Order: sequence, then structure tokens, then C-alpha cells
Amino acid sequence: MFPFAKERDYFPILQEQVMLSSCSQSALSRQVEEAIHSYVDTLRYTGMDWMRWMAEVEEAKTQFAKLINAEPEEIAVLSCVSECASSIASAFDFAGKRNQIVTTEMDFPSVGHVWLAQEKKGAQVKFIPSQESVIPLAYYDQFVNEQTLITSIPHVSYYNGFKQDLTKIAEIVHQKGSYLFVDAYQSAGSVAIDVKAMDVDFLATGMQKYMLGIPGIAFLYVKKEVAEKLEPAVTGWFGRTNPFAFDIRCLDYAAGARRFETGTPPMINGYAANAALRLLHEVGVERIEAYLSDLSETAVMYAGERGLTVVSPVEKSQKASNTAIYIPQASKAEALLKERNVIVSARNDVIRIAPHYYNTKAEVKTAIDALAEVAAHLQEA
Ligand SMILES: Cc1ncc(COP(=O)(O)O)c(C=O)c1O
Repeated sequence: MFPFAKERDYFPILQEQVMLSSCSQSALSRQVEEAIHSYVDTLRYTGMDWMRWMAEVEEAKTQFAKLINAEPEEIAVLSCVSECASSIASAFDFAGKRNQIVTTEMDFPSVGHVWLAQEKKGAQVKFIPSQESVIPLAYYDQFVNEQTLITSIPHVSYYNGFKQDLTKIAEIVHQKGSYLFVDAYQSAGSVAIDVKAMDVDFLATGMQKYMLGIPGIAFLYVKKEVAEKLEPAVTGWFGRTNPFAFDIRCLDYAAGARRFETGTPPMINGYAANAALRLLHEVGVERIEAYLSDLSETAVMYAGERGLTVVSPVEKSQKASNTAIYIPQASKAEALLKERNVIVSARNDVIRIAPHYYNTKAEVKTAIDALAEVAAHLQEA
């Protein structure tokens, strides 16, 4: 039985296309579309409505906080995950003995670039390698040491859906005295997150992927006790105690995570985020995660049956929604599938099949059948 028939109707594109690209862009719901229009209406009919715009952004913060079991005061609104990482990096000094940033080869490149840019400030960047589609937990114990200031990891890999155990990693890195930064862009909305139970220090995500929204807005969680110790150099008027004081000589820092905010927040994106977050709360991420775990198993097995090579982890507990299938000409395969109304996402040498709660098992199989045909065609050509 398909459990989300009512919710599936929210997404009109699903009547025309097989959309399995949640690792890149999820389907547009009527609710998000209406929210975007309602921002445009404020411009068209009221001209200017700062109070309402700011209220929408605050509401999005509160809804996101609830999603990850944080306080709204522990959330900053920024524009993208790369900016979240830059903002955190700018608050650290790498001149001392503890000057290492440990990150992983499975992080999204943009996040790695932010850490590499800190070498100019004296940071030493180390990359933990992956081994057979995963990062063994023991590597954290080996690579993180008494010189590590920040450890940066993806919760779920953008490439192959490898899912990490945040609680265990947090325990290891904290024992060594390092902070833990988590990029949750490939997990939020599809994998349950409890920042308190998992004990992460920083967590960043945007709305475009499994969060059912659009790009242009990102949320940065900063643990309360940690935020108060940091003063980011990436800043702006929304990071001040009172943004409306307009005192150019006063660089004070707002309490909590708001000190990490910069300029005017992404307002239209805030409207869209609210509508999307309401959809996620309506069913709860735990139910979505359980359903996607089933779809993921189907995808791995069926791709194998169709003779395709899966490069995602096989162990269920180590894998999220995304099933990565090896195809040397992945971008070409993505374009050919699009011609058949099958929307999937290519990265390097893989096609990523990334369902959300609105997808059915039949759709996953349809996409894999089409991919098998396209792969054979590309091999012959
Ligand atoms: C895991 C992960 N982190 C970060 C990014 C990039 O995020 P942004 O463009 O918001 O900086 C992506 C984009 O695909 C991603 O998958």
C-alpha cells in the first residue's frame, strides 16, 4: 500500500513526469507555488510590507528549529550552505596550536573549498578518504586529534547517499576536543535529525533538495553554548543586537545564532520555506525516512536485476534515499532520460535516483528500466 496518496496530489508535475531528483531539486507542490505568489502579491498590492516579510522569515526559523529539535534562537537564516560554512569558518582563529580542519572526501566540494580557503589564515586541512563507498567510523578516531579545531562531515553523501552515524561521530570528535560541523543538505527532510540527541555543534542545510522548497535560503544551527563564544567576520546588520539601531561604529553581536546572519534575508524563499516545512511537519520526517528506506532497498535490488552497477552502500542502515548508479556518460544519460519524462540527477560518473515520499515503487522501477535502456544505447554508440 502506498502511504502518501493524499500528499502525492499536492505535486502536479507527478501527473506528467517521473520525478526522482530530490537530491538536487524536489517537486514543486501547490502549497509552495501559492506561497511564492503570496510574496509577489505583497509587492503588487501593498508595495512594501517589511513586518510581514520578517515575520515569514522568523516563522521559517521556528519551523526549521522544530524539525531538528533545536530552539529558534539557535538558528540563523543565510542564503546557501556554502555561506553557512564560510560564516562559521570566519569565526575561528587558526593561529594557535589547534589549527586543523578535518573534513572528508565525501563532503560536497563547495564545503571543502571553504575549509581550504582557511589555509590563508593558517589552517591545516586534512581530508578523510572513503573506502568502498563509505567512511569507516574508525577513520574519525585516526584522523581527528588534539590539533583538530573543526571536523566537517556530510550527514549523507551527495554522491552515493552514504549515511553517517552522527551520534557516534560527535562522541569521537568531542573526545578529541574538536567541534563538529554537519552538512545536512542531503539528509534534512528525508532523514530524522535531532541535534540535541546527536550532539552536533553546527548544522547547515538549504531548502532545495529533500526539504521540498527552492534554493536561495539556508538554515544554520549553532549550539547555544557555542554561539556565544564566536564572533564571525562574515557579518552584516542582521547580525547586530538591534539591526535597526543604524550605528555604524558599533559592531556588537546578537545573542544566539542570529549573530551569524548578514544582510536582508531571502524573503520570497522564506515564504516558500514555510509552505514546504508545513508539508514535512504534516507527515513527519520519521515516516518519510521509513518509507524511503523501503524505496531505497527496491532501487538497489532492481538496479542489480537490470544489470546496472550500484555504487551506493548496500547496508540499509548506511544508506539514505539516493541510489547512485555507475554510468560513464552520466550527463548524457540524464538528458536522454529527460526526453522520456524521467527526471534524475547526474554527478560525475553516476545517475542518482533520489525519490521522496510522493514517489511510488513503480516510478523507481520505471526510471531504472529507462536507465538500463539508455545505458545500453550509450554503450553501443
Ligand atoms: C551535501 C551538499 N552540500 C552543499 C551543497 C551546496 O549547497 P549551496 O549551493 O547551498 O552552497 C550541495 C548541493 O548540491 C550538497 O548536495
